[in-house]
Amino acid sequence: MEPIPYAKQFIDEDDIEAVVKVLRSSHLTQGSKVPEFEELFSSYVDAAYGLAVSSGTAGLHLAVKALGLKAGDKVLTTSNTFVATANAVLFEKGQIDFVDIDPNTYLMDLDKLEAKLAHSRPGEFKGVIVVDFGGRPVDLERLAKITHKYGLWIIEDACHALGARFQDSHGVWQKTGNCKYADISVFSFHPVKHITSGEGGLITTNRKDLLDKMSLLRSHGITKDSASFTQESHGGWYYEMQELGYNYRLSDINCALAQSQLKKIDAFLARRKLIAQFYNTQLKGLKNFFIADTNPRFEHSYHLYVARANNRKALYDYLRERNIFSQVLYIPVHQQPYYRQIHNWNEALPETNKYYEVSLALPMYATLKDEEMQLIVDSIKSFYRS
Ligand SMILES: Cc1ncc(COP(=O)(O)O)c(C=O)c1O
Repeated sequence: MEPIPYAKQFIDEDDIEAVVKVLRSSHLTQGSKVPEFEELFSSYVDAAYGLAVSSGTAGLHLAVKALGLKAGDKVLTTSNTFVATANAVLFEKGQIDFVDIDPNTYLMDLDKLEAKLAHSRPGEFKGVIVVDFGGRPVDLERLAKITHKYGLWIIEDACHALGARFQDSHGVWQKTGNCKYADISVFSFHPVKHITSGEGGLITTNRKDLLDKMSLLRSHGITKDSASFTQESHGGWYYEMQELGYNYRLSDINCALAQSQLKKIDAFLARRKLIAQFYNTQLKGLKNFFIADTNPRFEHSYHLYVARANNRKALYDYLRERNIFSQVLYIPVHQQPYYRQIHNWNEALPETNKYYEVSLALPMYATLKDEEMQLIVDSIKSFYRS
């Protein structure tokens, strides 16, 4: 049997053809594929605007900048995430503080967030970045209610959660990334994610002011829009650099691939849900192995299937010997050497630490075969029997 990774992209002939078409066209970058994909993606998630960027990390960076983060500003986030979530704040010399996770959902514990804010000084925190970890959406309605009285902005790191949604208190389904309750959402198209563009990401927002700001910063802070020039034009070639920006653009090649992938999203999501159901039914009730809590109000999109396993390292090694590459996601950000030298958060994050000791992500991707799923559950069962 071929090695079974924890995640893998699926590329078909349509994807290849879409890329080749761009390669044969006049614009490899800064062409029409970019706005076309932005429009399609933002309408898929029900947001007003989309901005394609070179990575999810670039998207998070632009988001904090557009929301006006200044050196020394404090932002709350979760430590159970990829380092990029918190790094975006450090790029701008902001300060990070972590809120512990809810042990049932592995997401930021909103009760703990509420308590932390209740004890904060007026204006102490500027914003919060939540993560729809693994594909389980955060209760953004509740989050917005909590943060509203403190005037915090909200960034939803939705890099794991394309296709997820939650039911709000009015019974309305809110899609991840629709920005009804968040100022900005950020997605990633790294090959382990639901859809891929190679590398890439996309920001959604309903605020035109934020879109314009991020759009400017995406391309060096340069504008060619004569209506916004602050100096007199020198001629047809004239452009102005008005902010210190970056090259965070996504090429037409990447956008064509992502657009072609987006056409398959419903099938990808359905297969991921089926795999999760299989794991749930097969592994439920195992002694020493615990499947995640599910809640019908929060529709998971299963970027990851995370369980908690006693004797995790031995299980990980046992699966690996059988060519099954489960994964541990994530080493908590606060445990990274770089973050340890900033502050010691260990005592403040007991649930995050506990989760890290036992968590294990099982293989989860659209092309995972039935016999591979069976081998995975059989191997886990035989590990705990032996
Ligand atoms: C939660 C989360 N946020 C942000 C990122 C960064 O995305 P990218 O790899 O596209 O820069 C990732 C990537 O894995 C992620 O998992």
